[in-house]
Amino acid sequence: MTDSLTITRPDDWHLHLRDGDMLRAVLPETARHFGRAIIMPNLVPPVVTGDQAAAYRDRILSALPEDMSFTPLMTLYLTEETDPDDVAAAHASGLVTAVKLYPAGATTNSASGVTNFDKVRPVLEKMAEIGLPLCTHGEVTDPDIDIFDREAVFIDRVLDPIRQATPGLRVVMEHITTANAADYVRSHGTVDGGDLGATITTHHLIINRNAILVGGIKPHYYCLPVAKREEHRLALRAAATSADKRFFLGTDSAPHTDANKLSACGCAGCFTATNTMALLAHVFEEDGALDHLEGFASQHGPAFYRLPENTSTLTLVKTDEPVHVPQSIVTPDGPVTVFDPGFPIHWTVA
Ligand code: NCD
Ligand code: ZN
Repeated sequence: MTDSLTITRPDDWHLHLRDGDMLRAVLPETARHFGRAIIMPNLVPPVVTGDQAAAYRDRILSALPEDMSFTPLMTLYLTEETDPDDVAAAHASGLVTAVKLYPAGATTNSASGVTNFDKVRPVLEKMAEIGLPLCTHGEVTDPDIDIFDREAVFIDRVLDPIRQATPGLRVVMEHITTANAADYVRSHGTVDGGDLGATITTHHLIINRNAILVGGIKPHYYCLPVAKREEHRLALRAAATSADKRFFLGTDSAPHTDANKLSACGCAGCFTATNTMALLAHVFEEDGALDHLEGFASQHGPAFYRLPENTSTLTLVKTDEPVHVPQSIVTPDGPVTVFDPGFPIHWTVA
């Protein structure tokens, strides 16, 4: 039996840190374990320009406790007004690691996202030219499309046409939730993952849609894209644990206060920063793939983003007794509930 596992320090390739008091409260939860993270730009107002990204990066770095080291990798929120030259300059200066596409209205704070994809063609072409990745929130927003089908329909109606029209555009399909998405990555991305990759969250490896809806409604399991049927969860598990370089960790840890979750119109998002690495050790061990955890959490992401792997390490230790994880973290805005996997955890970060 493995009772300890040391891996290259992991990175989180999709993270919501928010701003202000919430940023100060949640940042240590990520910085404790992760070397870097791709920082989502869906603030209010969103992070659209290079100047805004530089200012946000400074706020993140000033919120970082002095004894922690962590590198935020900034993204720009793509709008129909985004200036291709501003994007190129932000990339050239090393400030920006990716551009984020939200279909307008798809998720939390996405009102400024894209409605007419033709309007962002010049930006996408510039990104293809300079090798800057596009991170996609892959859900259509058409009211006639069932919410459980929105990812699969996005692939056919939006993603595939964009990729075909923009040769060389490097794309990350973020927080994939379906077998359709995993199959698309495998059948359309090159084996080394240089052109097409996908992030998978911790919670989508653990819950299916029953967790949200059976035995009473469970708002803490509601996130977007919404968890799907069990067969899709199993497909995600297979992709994540397979050692395929095209799949890597993006937690999509998305803090909302309990007041905003437990409401008649509750926010989407699971907060997993605190216990993600312990949960992943559990998941990979359960699937007999502990030796593939390092690839998923620490190696495939840097390879896609053409960054060096972290030089430090993280050690996970197996415990006899279940590990105690705080039920919530305290923020000045109110408590933020930590994702509860629904089973005892016997792994902890040393
Ligand atoms: C995210 C958030 O709260 O910002 N919510 C979520 O359910 N994942 C937005 C997003 O990534 O969709
Ligand atoms: Zn997200």
